[in-house]
Amino acid sequence: MQQVQFVETVLRDANQSLIATRMPYEKFEPILETMDRAGYYAVECWGGATFDVCLRYLNEDPWERLRKIRAKMPNTKLQMLLRGQNILGYKHYPDDVVRRFVQHSVKNGIDIIRIFDALNDTDNLKVAVEETVKCGAVASGAISYTTSPVHTLENYVKLVKELAAMGVSTICIKDMAGIMGPKEAYDLVSAIKDAVDLPVDVHTHCTTGLAFMTYLKAVEAGADIIDTATPPFSGGTSQPSTDTLAYALRQLGYEVNLDDAVLKQVADYFKPVRDGFVADGTLMAKSLATDAQCLTYQVPGGMLSNLLSQLKSMNALDRLDEALAETPRVRKDLGYPPLVTPTSQMVGVQAVTNVLQGERYKKVSSEVRAYCRGEYGRTPAPIDPAVRRQILGDEKPLEGRYADTLEPLFEKTKAQLGDTARSDEDVLSYIAFPQLAEKFFADRQAREENMVRYTIEPM
Ligand code: CO
Repeated sequence: MQQVQFVETVLRDANQSLIATRMPYEKFEPILETMDRAGYYAVECWGGATFDVCLRYLNEDPWERLRKIRAKMPNTKLQMLLRGQNILGYKHYPDDVVRRFVQHSVKNGIDIIRIFDALNDTDNLKVAVEETVKCGAVASGAISYTTSPVHTLENYVKLVKELAAMGVSTICIKDMAGIMGPKEAYDLVSAIKDAVDLPVDVHTHCTTGLAFMTYLKAVEAGADIIDTATPPFSGGTSQPSTDTLAYALRQLGYEVNLDDAVLKQVADYFKPVRDGFVADGTLMAKSLATDAQCLTYQVPGGMLSNLLSQLKSMNALDRLDEALAETPRVRKDLGYPPLVTPTSQMVGVQAVTNVLQGERYKKVSSEVRAYCRGEYGRTPAPIDPAVRRQILGDEKPLEGRYADTLEPLFEKTKAQLGDTARSDEDVLSYIAFPQLAEKFFADRQAREENMVRYTIEPM
């Protein structure tokens, strides 16, 4: 009997896609010990935007969050999402930082590191994969899935073979936009299974409504693992429901080793949590809707909720359709990057800017400029020469691997921070998000001083 395993995403991707990662640790702490008994292949709980949002909005130490989850879930593999050479930030870091980040992620409790690059440039994956394997964790090599004239089955298979040669233990098809149809999933999983002898994990979103069909055909083609979310945090821009897929796959004769009673407790717990985010406006109705237009626009869940909040803050929600229509045009100009962090932000912000400025590429972010210089790696297709000239002028784009041009940063930063950083983890937080970390360190200090006063006074 073919077995299908599940990655539960409520703590990371579902949280990120539906409510821009705004769930604080206290909101899910009471259910972690229960989740530990569900029988998931893994719980995705860290990486992606969790690190940034913990520091930026939640006043939480992301490393402490990870250690607390680890302590409450001793029997479940914890998974994180790592943006290859970008680690958890939005730019490229030198190799010593990537290695340290991987080492400390594993040391603080991560078992599986899913590593992807927004451009599928293997030069941006190799150091993270190598270090993950060295640390004894599972390296999952992810394909950022997209469709374009250059994203052919042959090219994907070539990429998967490169990942296998690098030493990854599993392959993940990461369909962040939910645009992979059932036939594409069947063909791609079949081709990967023919090419390499590794478990295949399929990751998609419900955005376009394809997800259940896509998973079903992926499983028929031999997919071993699927990513799902507990029902209250499933659907819309998030993953399909764990409980529903467990039910359907069992009915079709697949072996699913999840504990239904535990799944129900998890779902019952998250219902009022979800309702709270609906009540305070964090979870918008649009994020829960099915939008088949995404099949044209290819806007991933997280990006759609970011676009919405960006337009909302500029009082321009009525320009959403224009911004969505501009997105694939910008993407084509930039050589068909898959839309995933950080390219999704670059393309999304550029599309909104183009629309609101009323003139294309009149204003360009420093990230898009760096992208055009080649600092994010090789683009799937060449950047439109006219657009590149408009953005770069006479400046020559870079040859070779950008990270090779970067000086080691960790020891230097550690020395520079001195006592402000209490651990190597603090140093890494600072390297990833300097201003946010600085503020967090100061707040932490103030909080502790207050606590000391408070505990001393009553005595
Ligand atoms: Co995702």
